[in-house]
Amino acid sequence: KLQVIETIEEMRKLLDRNDRKGKTVGFVPTMGYLHEGHLSLVQYAREENDLVVMSIFVNPAQFGPNEDYATYPRDKERDLQLAASAGVDIVFIPSVDEMYPHESGIRILPGEQKSVLCGAKRPGHFDGVLKVILKLFNIVDPDRSYFGMKDAQQLSIIESFVHDFNLRTKIVRVPIVREEDGLAKSSRNVKLSGVERKEAPAIYKALQKGAKYIEQGKHPEEAIQMVKEMICSETTGEIDYVEILSFPDLQPIEEHSKEIIIACAVKFEKARLIDNIIMSTK
Ligand code: PAJ
Repeated sequence: KLQVIETIEEMRKLLDRNDRKGKTVGFVPTMGYLHEGHLSLVQYAREENDLVVMSIFVNPAQFGPNEDYATYPRDKERDLQLAASAGVDIVFIPSVDEMYPHESGIRILPGEQKSVLCGAKRPGHFDGVLKVILKLFNIVDPDRSYFGMKDAQQLSIIESFVHDFNLRTKIVRVPIVREEDGLAKSSRNVKLSGVERKEAPAIYKALQKGAKYIEQGKHPEEAIQMVKEMICSETTGEIDYVEILSFPDLQPIEEHSKEIIIACAVKFEKARLIDNIIMSTK
């Protein structure tokens, strides 16, 4: 049966490493409004661990002043039902006061990888992500933590964080889950208008065509231009960025880049959507 925990103290009692008796803990951090993307992370965690812990916390620290913290979709009861039927054992659903009772001003800053893609467009966003992730890792003390490739930059920064600071958890990458028409699943998709929802699959189609361009040996700039033009002509969204970089280091691509990412963000009226394709270069 699903246990729903609201305080850090209770989480610590429940997950104390000394009492775990060798049971492994898989952790799925989320901001809730769950969809099949989140549930796919749970599935991976279920297969590889004895216990599955999910956190549901819309983290104010990772939203900018003009972003959608206040209107981010929330539905606690539905989330708890979905988590229970997906096989989550423990849901940690703290209040903002529980997570951030006071601020001393200490900050954790991501490195190089934050200066591109969403990091460049959302100043402070990944500072807020690392802040909450370190707290959650310390509260849950997971053996493995599951992150979606949809947020590829987040994944790459968290992998570096774990590596550089010797955090105990292992990070597991989970592939992007898409709607039948190709649109990447996202909690924010419900904020698309009817027309926008019909147009949005063009984002993935454009990225796929961009990937084809790269396979054909075309210059990345040419691929980027084509992706931009296609998204512009097929949607009413405004392009925030389209970039092609090496993955996971997120540097300009070079001859020796093994894997590359084609990533974009598109702003619709009430939702900013991101998507990407990661491909190996031969
Ligand atoms: P959230 O957007 O709720 O996403 C939680 C996790 O689900 C992330 O690892 C994300 O990459 C993954 N995810 C979302 N949509 C997905 C999809 N279509 N396919 C596969 N995985 C998907 O990302 C966050 O929350 C927050 O930044 C968080 C890490 C919880 C820190 O606050």
